[in-house]
Order: sequence, then C-alpha cells, then structure tokens
Amino acid sequence: TVEMPLMPSIVMVLNGPNLNLLGTREPHIYGAETLTDVENHLIQTGKDLGISVSCFQSNSEGDIVSRIHQARGETDFIIINAGAYTHTSVALHDAIKGTGVPLVELHISNVFAREPFRHHSYISPVARAVMCGWGVQGYALAIDGLAQTPAV
Ligand code: DQA
Repeated sequence: TVEMPLMPSIVMVLNGPNLNLLGTREPHIYGAETLTDVENHLIQTGKDLGISVSCFQSNSEGDIVSRIHQARGETDFIIINAGAYTHTSVALHDAIKGTGVPLVELHISNVFAREPFRHHSYISPVARAVMCGWGVQGYALAIDGLAQTPAV
C-alpha cells in the first residue's frame, strides 16, 4: 500500500501588522468583515473539515517571529498574512526557513495590482504556496486547500 501524506490537523493562522483594523481599514480593499468575524468563521471552517485552527494577530515583528518558532512541533501548517512585513522582513524569512514549518503566504488584496513596493515578498521563497486577491475569503480557501491537498 502507498502511504498517503497526512492531512494537517493543526493549523495556525497568523496575521501581522494592521490586520487588527480589518473592517474599518480601507474597506474598499480589505472588506467590511472584522478580524474577529474572519477568525470565528475560520475556526468553524476548520471544525467542519476536522482541522483545529488557532488564530493569532500581532503588530510586532518579534512576536510573529516567536510564534513561528513556537509553531515548530505543535502546528502542522501556518497560514500567514504578514502584512507590510512581507515586503521588509528578513527576520520572518529566516524564522520560516530556520524552523522549516510548512507555510502558506496569503494576502487579502492582489498585491501585484497595487504599488510596486508590494510586489516583492521575503516570504514567497520560503512558502509552500502563495495566494492573494481573494479577499478575506482567501483564508477559508487556504484551509480548504490544505484539507484537500495534504502534500502542498
Ligand atoms: C496585505 C498586503 C500588504 O501589502 C499590506 O501591507 C497589508 C495587507 C493584504 O492582505 O492584502 O497590510 O498583506
């Protein structure tokens, strides 16, 4: 028998700087749902799929680095929206590389249709998958993707 890779059963959703402002921040770009709405929805999406979802948001780069370290050994997959740190943070790149935690990079907006400074990502080279432009619905799509394609 061929052994199938295991579906991730513990997923951490990490949101970076300014994502606590969801719902009020540039709603034409990021939508009207608050982060709490989105997180509650994701926990439910996870439940329906047999995946335990934990959510964390921080405006501080060091806290996010520490969460990535902590995820090693206790989380099967990270879904990260690193916000503006995506475009600036060698520290996040190194944390992902150094821990080897499998990770999906996510952006609510289509960063490639926006300012050129959003076109470069320090996360993409160390991510298993990258998604952007699906609005806040992208988070649930990412969890669904992990449930369906365990080898991502
Ligand atoms: C973002 C895009 C980033 O460029 C921006 O700095 C954010 C949010 C997004 O989800 O579309 O804070 O990551």
